[in-house]
Amino acid sequence: MDGFRLAGALLRCLNPETAHRLTLWGLGRGWAPVVQAADDSLLHTRLWGRDFSNPLGLAAGFDKDARAMGPLLALGFGFVEVGTITPRPQAGNPRPRVFRLAEDAAVINRIGFAGGGMDMAAARLRAWRDAGGPGLGGGLVGVNLGKNRDSPDAPADYAAVAGALAPYADYLVINVSSPNTPGLRALQDRRALERIVEAVAGAVSKALPRRGPPLLVKIAPDLTAADQADIAAVALSGAVQGLIISNTTVARPADLRGRHRVQAGGLSGRPLFASSTAVLSDMYRLTRGKVPLIGVGGIASATDAYAKVRAGASLLQLYTALVYQGPALIPAIKDGLAQALRRDGFATLTDAVGADHR
Ligand SMILES: Cc1cc2nc3c(=O)[nH]c(=O)nc-3n(C[C@H](O)[C@H](O)[C@H](O)COP(=O)(O)O)c2cc1C
Repeated sequence: MDGFRLAGALLRCLNPETAHRLTLWGLGRGWAPVVQAADDSLLHTRLWGRDFSNPLGLAAGFDKDARAMGPLLALGFGFVEVGTITPRPQAGNPRPRVFRLAEDAAVINRIGFAGGGMDMAAARLRAWRDAGGPGLGGGLVGVNLGKNRDSPDAPADYAAVAGALAPYADYLVINVSSPNTPGLRALQDRRALERIVEAVAGAVSKALPRRGPPLLVKIAPDLTAADQADIAAVALSGAVQGLIISNTTVARPADLRGRHRVQAGGLSGRPLFASSTAVLSDMYRLTRGKVPLIGVGGIASATDAYAKVRAGASLLQLYTALVYQGPALIPAIKDGLAQALRRDGFATLTDAVGADHR
């Protein structure tokens, strides 16, 4: 067993939040593998005027406060999404609030946007950019925006974080799909969403009058067909430039085995794969392949990653599988995905996006 595998096995003996804190601490000290190999050119993709050397990203929630972008990108990710970041610092829900369901290769969390707030994140992102961070071929950083739990004015909150962080973001995400902030998912309703998008777009063009980063919306896997159609209409109107599909689910599949399956919160990992991929496929169809989609939910192998691409994902993200398989999973997925594309005769990743619909 190599050192990182051993570290992973030890970390899984600790409670999940302690393990996570230690992991971030270790990453900050350089205790992490650095992937030296250049990405296979088949995996390169260009979206929103930005070059992704590979399509695999780290999903939001791992680096909530923008503490470890450099070391995380060095693990081999093509991009890292930091956040969710709220205007003011907040503590989140009482602990324990993160639970491993090892038998199901899943996690349930109800953290509820704990973090240091936008000023702290802005200072870290600014320092990172000033040090020559992403955007210089070293990988890209997206910023996931949220609202404070006690804020009555959602559009104002999203706009405040967007205005503060747009200068440092390769893309921005309006997160209206976490299950752990009361009322948040209701913001996926068409009128509510349009108000937020308008406020965020206004704040971004004020902060960066010439050229702001693209704006994405992250959606839940638990939407009705009517909600899906509304969100597709907003995306097709050109108000947002992409969708992230999906966040965690409030559903509890009947075959979950982990003893924590009764805990409240959002379920991620293997049990989320089928439903999040089905919604990805629906949204690809509803947006007629015209809107770039980021596929996330239960990716734990190259086969899973390839299935998301064929269902309509231009980019991919993961989080939970990293908890169980460690950072060796990242090069394994990239290698396997490139192999699958070659085997099926695709000259580029982009050619394979949505292949199952043709
Ligand atoms: C512990 C934990 C915290 C998360 N926090 C956030 C968050 O702050 N914002 C967000 O948009 N998604 C958050 N997510 C959801 C992930 O970004 C992702 O959408 C979801 O876990 C599905 O991917 P996975 O099955 O690969 O984990 C979190 C997930 C986990 C497991």
